[in-house]
Amino acid sequence: MNDSFDRTIDYVRIAVTDRCNLRCFYCMPAEGIPYEPKAQLLSYEEITRLLRVLGDLGFKKVRFTGGEPFLRKDFMQLLESTAALGDYSSIHITSNGTLLQKHITKLKALGITKINLSIDSLDKERFKKITRRDDFEKVMQTFHMLIDNGFQVKLNAVIMNGINTQDILSLAALAETYPVDVRFIEEMPFNGGYKENKQLYSARDIYADLKAHYTDLEALPSTHGDTASLLSMPNFKGNIGIIAAFSRTFCDTCNRLRISSKGEIKSCLYDDGVFNIRDYMREGVSDEALAAKFSEIIRLKPKDGFEAEKMRKSPSQSMKSMSSIGG
Ligand code: 5AD
Ligand code: SF4
Repeated sequence: MNDSFDRTIDYVRIAVTDRCNLRCFYCMPAEGIPYEPKAQLLSYEEITRLLRVLGDLGFKKVRFTGGEPFLRKDFMQLLESTAALGDYSSIHITSNGTLLQKHITKLKALGITKINLSIDSLDKERFKKITRRDDFEKVMQTFHMLIDNGFQVKLNAVIMNGINTQDILSLAALAETYPVDVRFIEEMPFNGGYKENKQLYSARDIYADLKAHYTDLEALPSTHGDTASLLSMPNFKGNIGIIAAFSRTFCDTCNRLRISSKGEIKSCLYDDGVFNIRDYMREGVSDEALAAKFSEIIRLKPKDGFEAEKMRKSPSQSMKSMSSIGG
C-alpha cells in the first residue's frame, strides 16, 4: 500500500503491553504509569486478525514492542500464530532483555532471529541510574546468549545530554567485537515530564563524537525505511547507526504504522493517535471494513513528524509514555 507521498507502507509496529519492569527515565516516571486494565488491551486474537488483514494489504514486516513484550502472558503464543500466518518475512522484537533468556530456543525454532535490545550504558551504575533497576548483568548476559545463538541483534541506546554521552564510544566498540548493530537514538519528549528547554544531544553531536575517535568512519547508503543513518568501520563486525528521532530527518522513506497496546493507530510517531482500531473491531466490523479503514489511514499519513505534531489534538501537552507506544 502506498500513501499519498508514494511511500510504500508495509511495516507495522505493535505494542503488546504498556507494562514494563524497568523505569527508564526517558520513557516512564519513577512511579510508573497507570497501566491499562487487561480488557483494554488488544487480545492476541485481535492482534492476529489485524496482522492477517494487514498481510493481505501487503505488509511484510512486523515488530512487537511494549512496554516489555515478554511481560505479557503467553507472548510466545502470539509469535507462533504470527509466524503461522505466513505473510511476514520479518518478525522482529524490541525488548529490554530482562525476561527473554528462557525463550531463546523457542524463538530460534520459530525463525525469529532479529531482536533489538535497549542498552543505554555499559556502566552498571549508569545503567541503574537510567533504568532505575539493577538488571545490567542480566541484560548483558542476554546480549551474549543471543549473539552466541546466532541472532541478529541490534542495540538501542538513547543518548542523553549529561547522562550517558560518555558511553557512546564504548557502545560503538561493541560493533567491533561482535556482529551487532549499535543504534544511537536522539532523545524524544516521550517520558511525560520532558522539559522543553532541555538541550538535545543531537544526531550531529553523536556523529562528531564518533568521527573524532573513528576517523575512518564511512557513511553507508541508506536502505528504504531505515530511520538510521548507517556508518561502517573497516574491520568492524557490525555497523553503527544514528537515529535522528527528534530531528526527524528520515520521514521521506517512512514505511510504518504503529498500533498501541490498546489499539490506537498512529500513522506517525508524533501524532497522538488517529483511530482506535480495537473499538472498531469490537463493534463487529468485517475484515473488508478493517482493510478499508487501514487504507484510509495510510492515505492520510502525514508527510513528516513535524506535520503530525501540528495535527495533534493536544499540541501543548508533552507526549505520553513511550511504553504504551512502543518506540
Ligand atoms: N526517546 C528516544 N527513544 C526512546 N525510546 C523510549 N523512549 C524514548 C525516548 N524518550 C526507545 C528506546 C527503546 C525503545 C523501545 O524506544 O530506544 O529501546
Ligand atoms: Fe521499559 Fe523500554 Fe520504557 Fe525502559 S524504555 S521503561 S525498558 S519500555
